[in-house]
Amino acid sequence: MSGQKIVLGISGGIAAYKTPELVRLLKKRGAEVQAVLTRSAKEFVTETTLQAVSGSPVRENLWDKEAEAAMGHIELARWADLVLIAPATAEIMSRLALGAAPDLLTTLCLATEAPIVVAPAMNHIMWADSGVQDNCRVLKQRDIRILGPAVGDQACGESGPGRMVEPEDIVAAIMGPKAVPDVSALAGKVVMITAGPTREAIDPVRYISNRSSGKMGYAIAAAARDAGAKVLLVSGPVNIVPPAAVETIFTESAKEMFAAVHDRLTEVDVFIGAAAVADYHSASVQTHKLKKSESDLSLDLSRTPDILASVAGQQDRPFTVGFAAETQNLREYALGKLKEKNLDMIVANLVGANQGFEKDRNSVEVFWQDGEKVFPDSDKKVLGRQLVKIIGEQYKSIQDAQTVQIQPAISGGD
Ligand code: C5P
Repeated sequence: MSGQKIVLGISGGIAAYKTPELVRLLKKRGAEVQAVLTRSAKEFVTETTLQAVSGSPVRENLWDKEAEAAMGHIELARWADLVLIAPATAEIMSRLALGAAPDLLTTLCLATEAPIVVAPAMNHIMWADSGVQDNCRVLKQRDIRILGPAVGDQACGESGPGRMVEPEDIVAAIMGPKAVPDVSALAGKVVMITAGPTREAIDPVRYISNRSSGKMGYAIAAAARDAGAKVLLVSGPVNIVPPAAVETIFTESAKEMFAAVHDRLTEVDVFIGAAAVADYHSASVQTHKLKKSESDLSLDLSRTPDILASVAGQQDRPFTVGFAAETQNLREYALGKLKEKNLDMIVANLVGANQGFEKDRNSVEVFWQDGEKVFPDSDKKVLGRQLVKIIGEQYKSIQDAQTVQIQPAISGGD
C-alpha cells in the first residue's frame, strides 16, 4: 500500500479539525496525500496546516490556472488511487448522491475511476434524517464505501451516531492493519474475542441484560488486529462501532453467542472471553407480551451455557483467556475461576460503584499459572494494547514450551 495516492476531500464539519492528524497517519503509512477543501471546510481547518503536514499545496478551486491544462479536477481524478472524503457532511453526501458537481471535490469525484470512501460526520438527528439515509443508500449502491459514523459525544453537546470515525480507524479501514514492527506472537494467528452484554428475552418486548458497553472487548479486538492477528469479534448488542478490518459477528442471547463461537472455533488460536454473558435466561420465553396484574410476578430462570468453560474444555483448545468482573474478593475469585474453568489467563477487574462497566477507563489485574501483573487505571484502548501484549507473550511461552516437549520424543524415536 506504500506509495498509494490519496485525494483527501475535506468538507465543512467540525471533525475537519482532525484531518491534519489523518494526513499525518496516512503519510506515516507511506501514502501520498493531496488535500482538497470545500469552501466551508476552511472555516474549520487551515490550508497552511494541511499544506505543512501533507507537503503539497491544498486545492480548493475548480478554476485552477496552475493545474494541468487548467483542469484541476481531471488531473486529480487521474492521479488518485483512492478518494477519501472525511469528514463528509450531509451536504456533500447529497451532492454525490445527485451527481452534482458545483465545486472541485464533487467534480473530481465524478471524473475519477478510483474507489471513493466517505466518512460521514454530522449531528445524530441529521444522520437519522430519512433524506440523509436515502442518500447514504444511493452512495452504497454505487459502491461508495461508507465508514461509520461512530457513536458518542458530539460537538453540539448531544450524543449518538454521527461522529467521524477516528483517524487511526479510517487509516486501518483503507490501508489494512498496521504492519507489526515487533513481530508479535499473535501476528498471523486467529484471535476470537467475545464482547458486550447478552440479552435474554422474557417476552417479545422485554429482556434481561447488564451494563456492559463492549468497550474493553472492542479495544482488545483493535489491538489484536494491530498486532497482525486475524480477528473474529463475536459481539452482543452494543452502541459502539466495531473496529475496522475486524470480522464482527453480532449475536443477542448467550445461546446465540455460544453457537457463533463454536461455529468458528476450529479456526481459532487464541480465545478471549470479554463478554458479560448473562448467567440466566428466562426458562420459557413468552410468545406474547406479559400483561401486568395486581399480583406479584416471579420468573423462572435457567442457567445459560458457559461459553468460556466450553471453549476451555475442548480437546484441542485454543489458548484461552477469561475475564472476572467482581465487586469484592477480586484475587480469590479470579484465581478460583482460572482453575475451575481451566483457563490459561484471567483478567480481573472490580466493577460497580462507578468502576468497570460503561466507563472509558479501567484498571485490571491479570493472573496466569505462575505469574500475575497489575495494570493501573488507564484508557481502555491503552489497556487493550497492554493486554494483547501480555496475552501474546504468554501464548508464545506456552507454544515454545510445547515445542521443547515434542522435540525429545522425535529424536528418541531413532
Ligand atoms: O463465571 P463468570 O461469569 O464470573 O466468568 C466470567 C468469564 O466467563 C468471562 O470471561 C465471561 O466472558 C465468561 N462467561 C461465558 N459464558 C457464560 C458466563 C461467563 O463465556 N455463560
